[in-house]
Amino acid sequence: MFDKVEKFKSELKALEVKTKDELEQFRIKFISKKSVVSELFNDFKNVPNEQKKQFGVALNELKNLAQEKLKEMSSSLERDGSTSENTGTLDLTLPGVANDLGSIHPLTLTKNKIIEIFERMGFNVVDGPEIEDDFYNFTALNFPENHPAREMQDTFFIEKNPDKVLRTHTSNVQIRLMENQKPPFRSIMPGRVYRNEAISARAHCFFHQVEGLYVDKNVGFKDLKQTVYHFAKEMFGKDTKIRFRPSYFPFTEPSAEIDISCFICQGKGCNVCKYTNWVEIAGSGMVDPNVLANCGIDPEEYTGFAFGMGIERIAMLKYQIDDLRLFSENDVRFLRQFQGSF
Ligand code: PHE
Repeated sequence: MFDKVEKFKSELKALEVKTKDELEQFRIKFISKKSVVSELFNDFKNVPNEQKKQFGVALNELKNLAQEKLKEMSSSLERDGSTSENTGTLDLTLPGVANDLGSIHPLTLTKNKIIEIFERMGFNVVDGPEIEDDFYNFTALNFPENHPAREMQDTFFIEKNPDKVLRTHTSNVQIRLMENQKPPFRSIMPGRVYRNEAISARAHCFFHQVEGLYVDKNVGFKDLKQTVYHFAKEMFGKDTKIRFRPSYFPFTEPSAEIDISCFICQGKGCNVCKYTNWVEIAGSGMVDPNVLANCGIDPEEYTGFAFGMGIERIAMLKYQIDDLRLFSENDVRFLRQFQGSF
């Protein structure tokens, strides 16, 4: 009987398992109710009294050894990952499995490039909320109550009285910035905006803008022109031409729409410029004195310019994309084309 215990002990010590199946065999043989160890315990009654003590000690040692071995072997199987069926040894000479590389979304690439250009001109980046009070989206920006100008931008209202809206432009951040800090300001404010429009190749119910605001003493329209001029050359190349077209916004006076020469067709005429050779990229103007006053800034002392440009527009020009919907469809065949940086 003692011999048997010793034999199992040395068997246990030498034992190694390579698969889950072998581990299970081991468990049945040494741990289960029908194991050799249990059998030996059953034989205990046949052991002469004077040997009972010694036999008991040896048997317990065997039992503990079996349990330790089970723990040790199951954790080592888990470690080398061979617990699943059909696994043999780990073959370290096999080539690894390459992970798919992701790519940066073209709108993010475009936004980052815009930020980089303006940061070099000394602008900082400011953020603001997409869910906005009527006050910041309209009233403080000099949109009179019940004025048709509010309908220029079809608005998603999400709460009534007091009104909460999904911002229709990034101009709300101008107000939030100016009411909290003192001039001078030289900031850009990128973000998503929402308008209640039918979705088509040229319009979407959400898109992205970068707002710009420059307020200081003696800021004039010339500063707006030079800033935009520099931006357009950095963004689209040194031969790019820009044009300011008179326009109207409640929060700027005078106001202008900014067009750039269509470098896709180089003046030959194409779908993107609708055969006009010009593509609109932004609205702009001198900050209306009422807006400055609404934010507690003295319009006699300070003047400023502002602009709001569409990131999608710029990305479409830069990458020659002719359908706005592609940006939000998450088609990897489209997205994978934008590997690397701008
Ligand atoms: N907020 C205007 C728009 O969304 C753009 C704009 C911004 C115009 C700043 C002038 C000054 O159309």
